Amino acid sequence: MTEVMTTEPKTTPMPSAEPQPAVAPAPEQARRVGPPPPGELPALFIDHATKRFVVGRKKKPVMAVNDVSMSIRKGEIYGVLGANGSGKSTLIRLVSTLLTIDRGRIEVFGHDVTKDEMAVKRLINRVSVDAAFFKKLSPHENLAYAARLYGMDAKVARAEAVSILARLGVGEKRLGRPVEQMSRGMQQKVAIARALLTSPVVLLLDEPTTGLDPRSKLDVQTFIEEVRDTHDATILLTTHDLAEAERLCDRIALINDGRLVAEGTPAELTEMVARDYGKEPTLESVFMTFTGKSLDDDIDEESSSEDDE
Ligand SMILES: Nc1ncnc2c1ncn2[C@@H]1O[C@H](COP(=O)(O)OP(=O)(O)O)[C@@H](O)[C@H]1O
Ligand SMILES: [Mg+2]
Repeated sequence: MTEVMTTEPKTTPMPSAEPQPAVAPAPEQARRVGPPPPGELPALFIDHATKRFVVGRKKKPVMAVNDVSMSIRKGEIYGVLGANGSGKSTLIRLVSTLLTIDRGRIEVFGHDVTKDEMAVKRLINRVSVDAAFFKKLSPHENLAYAARLYGMDAKVARAEAVSILARLGVGEKRLGRPVEQMSRGMQQKVAIARALLTSPVVLLLDEPTTGLDPRSKLDVQTFIEEVRDTHDATILLTTHDLAEAERLCDRIALINDGRLVAEGTPAELTEMVARDYGKEPTLESVFMTFTGKSLDDDIDEESSSEDDE
C-alpha cells in the first residue's frame, strides 16, 4: 500500500489570519496504533492467557505464560520484549495453535484458537527464530514446497513469491542458489516472504533478528517495516533487543517470568518511569525498572525455573 500521496488539493481555503505552522500535517493517514477502540474487532485478543509446563514430578511447574492479556489492533506492529526464558515463544506458540492454553482465551479476529483452530490457522503464519529450510535446495524450491503444503499451485506460488520478494527489495536472481549459501539475514527474509505466501492477516515473528550480524539485522528490520507497509498485516513480534523494539514497534509489552509487567508505546513506557528517573529515561531503564533485570543478563533457564518464588 503506498502511503504518501500528494493528491490532496493544495489550496485549502485559509480564512484565518493566524500564522500557520510551517510544517503542514502529514497527508498520509496516521498509522492506527492500538488498543482497538470500542466496537472494533481486535486483530489479536489475548485474555488472561496462562500456560504452565510440568517438567518433572519433583520440580515446580514453570509458569511460562502467566495471566497475560493484550489487545492488538489491525495494522499494528506489537512487540513482546523480554529476556531469555520469559515466555515469549510460548506466547507465540499459544497464538499459533501449536500449544494449547491452560486458562484464558485467545482470539484472532474473533476466532477462538481452541474452538476454531482451522479458521485461526488460515489467518496466521509464524516465523520462528530459526526458520527451517531444506538448505541444499534453493529458495525457489523451498518456496515451491511450502506452496504445496499450503495447497497453492506451484506456478502461482512462484510468481507470487517472486513478486513479494521483489516488492521487498530481493531480486529474483538470488533465489536460485542453495539456501545454505545465503547469508542468515537473506534466509530470514525468504522465511518471512514464505510466510506471506498465504497472505496471513496476522504474522507472528518470533525473534526474527536474533543471531544475525548487525548489517543483516538492520536489513531484516527494514524488511519487516516494508512488510507492514505493503501487506496490510498485523505483526506480533518478539525480541530481546531494545533498539529493535523501539524502532519497529507501535506498542511494546514487557514480559518478565511469564507476566506482562508493562505495556505502551515506546514514548509512553519511557514516560512511565520518567518521574522516578533523574535524567531522560531510555527503554533500557524502563525495562530495568519493570523487571529488575538487564536484557543482557543471560538467564540460566534450568536454575531460574526451579528457584523462583
Ligand atoms: N515444552 C516445554 N516444556 C517445558 N518447559 C518449557 C517448554 N517450553 C518452554 N518452557 C519453559 O518455559 C519458560 C519460557 O520459555 P520460552 O517461552 O521459550 O521463553 P523465551 O522465548 O522468552 O526465551 C522457560 O522457563 C522454558 O524453560
Ligand atoms: Mg524464544
